[in-house]
Amino acid sequence: MQIVQSDIIENGQAIQLRWQDGTTARFHAIWLRDNALDETTRNPVNGQRLRTVQDIPKDLKITSTEVAATGNVRIVFGPDHHETVFPAPWLQARSYDRTNLNKRGWLSDDIVLWSHKLAAQPPSTSYTLATTDTGTLSSWLRTIETHGFAIMSDCPRVDGALLDVAALFGYVRETNYGKLFNVRAEVNPNNLAYTNLGLQAHTDNPYRDPVPTLQILACLENTVEGGESAVVDGYAIARRLQEENPYWFDLLAKHPARFTYAGSSDICLEAKRPMIELGPDGEMIAVRFNNRSAAPFTDVPYDDMSEFYAAYRRFAELVDDPEMAVTFRLEPGELFIVDNTRVLHARTAFSGTGQRWLQGCYADKDGLVSTRKSLEAQLNEVAA
Ligand code: FE2
Repeated sequence: MQIVQSDIIENGQAIQLRWQDGTTARFHAIWLRDNALDETTRNPVNGQRLRTVQDIPKDLKITSTEVAATGNVRIVFGPDHHETVFPAPWLQARSYDRTNLNKRGWLSDDIVLWSHKLAAQPPSTSYTLATTDTGTLSSWLRTIETHGFAIMSDCPRVDGALLDVAALFGYVRETNYGKLFNVRAEVNPNNLAYTNLGLQAHTDNPYRDPVPTLQILACLENTVEGGESAVVDGYAIARRLQEENPYWFDLLAKHPARFTYAGSSDICLEAKRPMIELGPDGEMIAVRFNNRSAAPFTDVPYDDMSEFYAAYRRFAELVDDPEMAVTFRLEPGELFIVDNTRVLHARTAFSGTGQRWLQGCYADKDGLVSTRKSLEAQLNEVAA
């Protein structure tokens, strides 16, 4: 959308722009100069900024501005007469002139909260489609961003096939469990995951910092009784807790929990993070929940500990509420992927007869988002 008016305000310290639809936004001179798109400010090949913030004159001001026939805005800065042009859509997409009314625990509009009802139509695609059709792959990746969970069917039933799936969007995060790990009942396991016990819904590896942000679990064999998988939206749980009892939500958000894993003699992992993590502007950015690896909480003041445990208990009750879980039986050739900073996964206990063999691996969300964005850009280019 084109800009129709540009006025210098605050003695040159800012401008006010008006777009065709009547909306207005103010931009500071220093912000505009720092984010100029010209080639003296940014490398035209890689887009990286060539200047530091100290390179901006301390006595910077906007000396003139005009709207071009294209609807873009031309700005001249003093005292060095630097001139630059901003495209109207670029500025509109980056407007920051708004009152921040976000409440603690807010979520981006892209996030879709879900409960057991998602089981009727869980986000899913097939390996064949994802590997042959860019549009299918990019929308499957977007679902992982919006829902934090997706299924893939029709995968090769071979050892390590999940690594090929990770390679569709990013890179495996290798850990002490290896590039991938086998999840089946073992004698003397170094992790309770490698037994036939049921596991309460949890996020993986909260004792790691940074935590792996994606987990893939692929099924190679499943002939046991039980051993069903379930996923729970941690953001939906946190939101429910906040609606029921904002004080309890705040306790889990403001006090760090501690997590640890020392399942073998060469490993001693520890992390100190809250169960509900908020960013500096109150955005909910992660949930960590894992009864097996929670360490003694030593950062909660004595006066808050009883209520902290009440909040923790209620959070756990909501995690166990069947209304919040999508339960499914993973068959050979199927896998699911979770955003491990948001979606908890569980499995029911299974009997000793038959075989249940899953393989898991970790990867990271930044690579997934990057791949999805570049695939969408390629698709838009083709469409144009
Ligand atoms: Fe797990």
